[in-house]
Amino acid sequence: MVQIQARSTLAAVSLFAGLFAKAQGISLEVSSNGGNASSSLLYGFMFEDINHSGDGGIYGQLLQNNGLQGSNPDLTAWGKVGDATIAVDSNNPLSSAIPHSLRLDVPKGADGSVGVTNSGYWGIPVDGNDFQTYFWIKGALDGNVTARLVGNGTGIEYASTSIPVSANDKEFTYIEATIPTTKAPDGNVYYELSVDGSEIAGGSLYFGLVQLFPQTYKSRRNGLRPQLANALESIKGSFLRFPGGNNLEGANEGRRWKWNETIGPVEDRPGRQGLDEYFYWCEDMNLSPILGVWDGFSLESGGSTPITGDALKPYVEDVLNELEYVLGDSSTKYGALRVANGRKDPWPLTMVEIGNEDMLGGGCDSYAERFTAFYDAIHEAYPKLTLIASTEDPSCLPSSMPEGAWVDYHDYNTPDGLVGQFNFFDNLDRSLPYFIGEWAQKGVDWPIMQGSVAEAVFMIGIERNSDVVKMAAYAPLLQLTNSTQWTPNLIAFTQSPSMVIETSSYFVQQIFSANRGDTIREITSDSQFGPVYWVASNTDDTYYVKLANYGSKTETVSVKIAGSTKAKLTVVANNDANAANTDTETLVAPVDSELSGKDGEFSLTLPAWSAAVLVAN
Ligand SMILES: *[C@@H]1O[C@H](CO)[C@@H](O)[C@H](O)[C@H]1NC(C)=O
Ligand SMILES: *[C@@H]1O[C@H](CO)[C@@H](O)[C@H](O)[C@H]1NC(C)=O
Ligand SMILES: *[C@@H]1O[C@H](CO)[C@@H](O)[C@H](O)[C@H]1NC(C)=O
Ligand SMILES: *[C@@H]1O[C@H](CO)[C@@H](O)[C@H](O)[C@H]1NC(C)=O
Ligand SMILES: *[C@@H]1O[C@H](CO)[C@@H](O)[C@H](O)[C@H]1NC(C)=O
Ligand SMILES: *[C@@H]1O[C@H](CO)[C@@H](O)[C@H](O)[C@H]1NC(C)=O
Repeated sequence: MVQIQARSTLAAVSLFAGLFAKAQGISLEVSSNGGNASSSLLYGFMFEDINHSGDGGIYGQLLQNNGLQGSNPDLTAWGKVGDATIAVDSNNPLSSAIPHSLRLDVPKGADGSVGVTNSGYWGIPVDGNDFQTYFWIKGALDGNVTARLVGNGTGIEYASTSIPVSANDKEFTYIEATIPTTKAPDGNVYYELSVDGSEIAGGSLYFGLVQLFPQTYKSRRNGLRPQLANALESIKGSFLRFPGGNNLEGANEGRRWKWNETIGPVEDRPGRQGLDEYFYWCEDMNLSPILGVWDGFSLESGGSTPITGDALKPYVEDVLNELEYVLGDSSTKYGALRVANGRKDPWPLTMVEIGNEDMLGGGCDSYAERFTAFYDAIHEAYPKLTLIASTEDPSCLPSSMPEGAWVDYHDYNTPDGLVGQFNFFDNLDRSLPYFIGEWAQKGVDWPIMQGSVAEAVFMIGIERNSDVVKMAAYAPLLQLTNSTQWTPNLIAFTQSPSMVIETSSYFVQQIFSANRGDTIREITSDSQFGPVYWVASNTDDTYYVKLANYGSKTETVSVKIAGSTKAKLTVVANNDANAANTDTETLVAPVDSELSGKDGEFSLTLPAWSAAVLVAN
């Protein structure tokens, strides 16, 4: 501004005009030097298999209760076809992990089709690709088993495949078959296996662990459901925190996530998405794994009594075994087990989190001791691993944290609460890196626009401080609309093959995560933060300016980036603070526009309640 005196009258007039224009709006000038390196991980995912986010969700297997597992197995989701009855059978176990099979009793003189049906998880998403079915069968049968996918109520066939089977009543015979499908208009579809009743009349058939998979994400065996994996992939996240969460802790010690029961052939597992599958997910989606390990603390109702002292030792040992399974070579006991299970190379694990939310439910007092026990043992065996404490609350942590350790901070908050946190990270001690392992707006059924903009403000606060805030994961991630206890979620879905509901928060995550620079650049402005917030970064000549308008009025902004001539602006907005994408309407979606810069200056308008990214080069 002092340079006005040195300019010609003409230039001064135009500069004055410029100042006048700026007085109407907000002007930002992005520095092209200085600044801090941004964390390369920054945005990613937290996943736990609860509330049908895994079973019935991203895990590709589509049949419910397919292993008749649990302490009281029943016929949930199963039905019968024709002149026959079905029952849970405990005299013909498939394996020690799957101790029950599904028995089909066919009376003497039966004819016509007899068989079993499975209704899936509130239906089955049939997308027109080739499906795979796998099952074990026991009983005297030399003939065809017909596998079908059928509209419930309409009888329309979306698949029908005859599978030649030669089975006996001494042992289970394994069957696998490809089932070509045609796309169903909705999720109201069931699965059926049937045989000609006259072949079995007066006898029984036993079915063990019946599985149905669509064409999975990246064609991975035992892999992910493609529609949901693709929606996650397009966020371009950098990490995956698993297996939870409350899912890791379990309702008690016996129900914690036991890593060694989730590996190897599925017929030898009592349930749960497996350790190796999580790592394949990371590999296929280019995510850095963050493995949560159980640290002696469960979610006992009425308050937990954490395990401490010598009693903790076997659990520390168990985690060392788990890490050997993940990281060891084939000369180690557990590394060799991983190789035997089909994975030759160690998994590229660099981050381990010790426990989950140990500041809650009676975990705090003993966490310093438990954290230290696990930290010391893991750090000694694997000094290069980054170890993360499950809380940032200093009263639960050792009085001095080991160098290189990180802390996990969770923040479910109201929209105003998230905006109120904007400055929080500015004031952190730079020596203790933060992972925001779970966070989101709370208190609504579906993410609302105001909340999604508040999330953008919160993320701007994170990104400005991404020298110390290393990673942040929106949670929870996935919701089956038909059976939800915890809302809101980033992505919702039904079993209709085309029904993936990308919420307003999903689009904010996507535009913020997919557009990241490696260096955070300072922005100078004569305006204060609020209602408009901003942060800038760049990689080489590409600049990213993220903006949020947490207000009900349109704002005009000019952004100056020296040397840039063109830019793409992507805006996620809705005038209605309460607008939400739901299972019945889509009100929010990103809108792109091209801008050209005059002397590196771009003028743009930010609609009410908006989050935006300007990518300039
Ligand atoms: C870099 O980090 C320091 C704190 O360590 C902070 O004061 C400064 O504002 C940061 N610079 C940028 C461009 O974010
Ligand atoms: C759903 O999530 C909530 C919140 O964590 C949990 O209390 C509940 O047990 C979960 N239900 C199922 C079926 O996973
Ligand atoms: C059809 O849908 C109804 C209602 O959801 C369900 O009770 C029934 O079990 C389904 N039929 C089959 C064969 O799965
Ligand atoms: C599941 O929920 C969707 C709406 O979200 C609904 O259209 C569908 O009929 C429901 N399915 C069942 C089996 O209830
Ligand atoms: C089994 O199905 C195949 C193909 O549909 C058919 O050719 C064959 O005759 C069937 N066999 C019996 C025993 O029904
Ligand atoms: C898993 O590990 C625990 C503790 O080391 C052990 O007691 C249990 O038998 C193991 N389970 C399997 C299936 O190997």
